Amino acid sequence: MILALETSCDDTCAAVVTDGGVIRSNVISSQGIHDRFGGVVPEIASRHHLELVNAVVDEALHKAEVTLDDVTLVAATQGPGLIGALLVGLVTAKSIASSRELPLAAVDHLHGHIAAVFLEPQPFEPPFVALIVSGGHTLLVDVTGPREFALLGQTLDDAGGEAFDKGARMLGLGYPGGAALERLAQDGDPNAFSFPTAKGVKGCDFSFAGVKTALLYAIRDLGEKEADRRRADLAASYQSAIVEALVQRAQRALDKTGRARLALGGGVAANGALRGRLEALAVDLGIPPRELCTDNAAMIASAARSVEPLAFPMYLDLDVYPTGAKGL
Ligand code: KG4
Ligand code: ZN
Repeated sequence: MILALETSCDDTCAAVVTDGGVIRSNVISSQGIHDRFGGVVPEIASRHHLELVNAVVDEALHKAEVTLDDVTLVAATQGPGLIGALLVGLVTAKSIASSRELPLAAVDHLHGHIAAVFLEPQPFEPPFVALIVSGGHTLLVDVTGPREFALLGQTLDDAGGEAFDKGARMLGLGYPGGAALERLAQDGDPNAFSFPTAKGVKGCDFSFAGVKTALLYAIRDLGEKEADRRRADLAASYQSAIVEALVQRAQRALDKTGRARLALGGGVAANGALRGRLEALAVDLGIPPRELCTDNAAMIASAARSVEPLAFPMYLDLDVYPTGAKGL
């Protein structure tokens, strides 16, 4: 029985997952207090993690109908993410593990997003190409085993979710704005404006700086009143350009690797336009349920199954890391 914690950004998460990948509980407490700042404030996120973490762990154990006596491995996200936020999860995990002299698995957050697809009841088996698109990351990975990956491409500037959020902000929607932008886009024409997809960026790398600037200029050129009248068209065209950019790169990655299986992860996997476009590709698709695509601790537990655990007390001086990815 694995108890896992995930606190890399603004969600305080704990989960209990069996070694076979069956989710016994998956508790996510979204802080929901960062919208007024237009983004996550790291220090506020850390403080809230500190207030919430014990209650979230208790709830995860309770919902799983287990106690710490049943737990055989403790896992936590080590990075990448916000330093203060990560520290709360890792130190909590260390404390729980050391009090029982249990082993601890330090998990990479991006490994976690990939490992979400290995969970029951519908595990997606490697080899496959994984497209992970969240508020903090955008990458394409060739996955050949539970912990065997090769990075095929990543974003050169903003993450896909960040591009959605910044566009949403320009259109006067709240933070995070991806879902709100998708709702607004439903009433708009995706071909009304021609926004760039960074086609020129070679290989499987992404760039969202151009589409963001194009939206900014389109709004400026229309003028306040007209831009407001055409908000739905702007949203639909903007979403379409981001989705096209993602699908183009996914296709390039599939062509390059010769694979016909694609897994999708990260918060942007909730986007219906993206799902629709990927479903039209002639590939076998692995998309976990929404609560396993956004940040959660079940995916960290899933990844922990293939991480070499550290025995007590070897993990006590373990530190977190803000950027980069282990093994990618
Ligand atoms: O994976 P996630 O929950 O957190 C991070 O690790 O960042 O992803 C959150 C991101 C946000 O940028 C949010 O705007 C975006 O996912 N998102 C969406 C949708 N739902 C969430 N983007 C587009 N369409 C959606 N329906
Ligand atoms: Zn994430």
